Amino acid sequence: MNYFAHITGWGTSVPANIMTNADLAKIVETNDEWIRSRTGIAQRHIAEEGQSSASLGAEAALKALKVANISPHDVDLIVVSTSSPEHLFPSTASLIQDRIGATRAGAFDLSAACTGFIIAVNIVAQSIRSGAIHTALVIGTETLSRLVDWEDRSTCILFGDGAGAFVLQASQEPGGVLSAVMRSDGSGGDLLTVPAGGSKLPTSYQTVKDKQHFIQMNGREVFRFATRVMAQATEDVVKKANFTLDDVDWVVPHQANQRIIETAAKRLKLPLERFVINLERYGNTSTASIPLAAVEAITDGRIQPGDRIVFVGFGAGLTWGALLAQWTGPLPVEKPKMWPYRLHGLYRLYVKLRSWGLRIVRLIEGVVWGRQD
Ligand code: ACO
Repeated sequence: MNYFAHITGWGTSVPANIMTNADLAKIVETNDEWIRSRTGIAQRHIAEEGQSSASLGAEAALKALKVANISPHDVDLIVVSTSSPEHLFPSTASLIQDRIGATRAGAFDLSAACTGFIIAVNIVAQSIRSGAIHTALVIGTETLSRLVDWEDRSTCILFGDGAGAFVLQASQEPGGVLSAVMRSDGSGGDLLTVPAGGSKLPTSYQTVKDKQHFIQMNGREVFRFATRVMAQATEDVVKKANFTLDDVDWVVPHQANQRIIETAAKRLKLPLERFVINLERYGNTSTASIPLAAVEAITDGRIQPGDRIVFVGFGAGLTWGALLAQWTGPLPVEKPKMWPYRLHGLYRLYVKLRSWGLRIVRLIEGVVWGRQD
């Protein structure tokens, strides 16, 4: 049987707390005019205490499932793309799986910086097309504010927090994900990095003192790289599916810098109106930026079922990539599964109790059977 991988649900979640350029100017030597003219950013959302990549990701995921009209129990696989995971391990995907009560799902994290969401959607689409899985959640979630050096004006002005999620489902109707390109150039790894905390530079007094657990970036080099690859990847992905740029309705680029997007549009000879841009209000939310922009354009009616959309991104690694999809919208369902959403609060209580129940069972098992002496 031939399966196609359709994007059938979507959701986002951003912290309510907003930091404007004026707020930043109170922390570092900068100003609204400089930030707006160099980046296009006016404000960003910053996670509050208690919010994290898993909590934002879980919110976005539940909203996406609601749009697709499916229950968390229907999900076969959860892939989370993030550069600000909750921990080195366990994966943020597993934590989200527990938080949303996706009892049948496998889960793993994918690390490809801002390109991660595109790669995750592509990998999941391939699993669906192969017939291995039927339904998956792809989540891009970031709390980069926790990795930013708030004394470094060249990076702290750029990033914001947020999450976006897509549901992908198998269908025999043609459409959905049509083609993708994935690229990497690790020789540029040092251009954008959090140097310490991994196996190469384990955490020590010195790494903390030297601020090596924060984002370090060569902005000019990343800028040059980004303007080169955005247009190229867009052209490649369209060609791979035997289309031309005239067949594309929307380009949803990674929201890093207005000037990078404008340069890509110029190189592609496409009007800026065909690009979905919302970085003014969110800043660079890394792997969450593409779903955050896409969901906005779906919600306000710009993106319509049947539209062809290029998602294109770049980031640390260096990595870059693009994905061409024909927009579907929710698949028809025989009987709408409105639960557990009607009982939203009750469902949250249920998944919490379920999680604690499993921990208690594990504790009892450990006491009864686990003694080695
Ligand atoms: N406010 C005021 N002045 C500033 C600030 C600031 N926030 N930051 C830097 N400056 C100063 C610099 O010190 C420099 O001053 P100097 O000329 O006296 O030395 C001057 O402004 C120009 O600095 P540049 O770094 O050349 O500024 P540029 O125009 O390149 O803009 C920026 C910097 C916005 C960071 C740009 O290079 C950029 O957007 N690069 C791409 C970054 C990016 O997209 N990163 C995300 C990748 S995705 C991922 O994986 C997370």
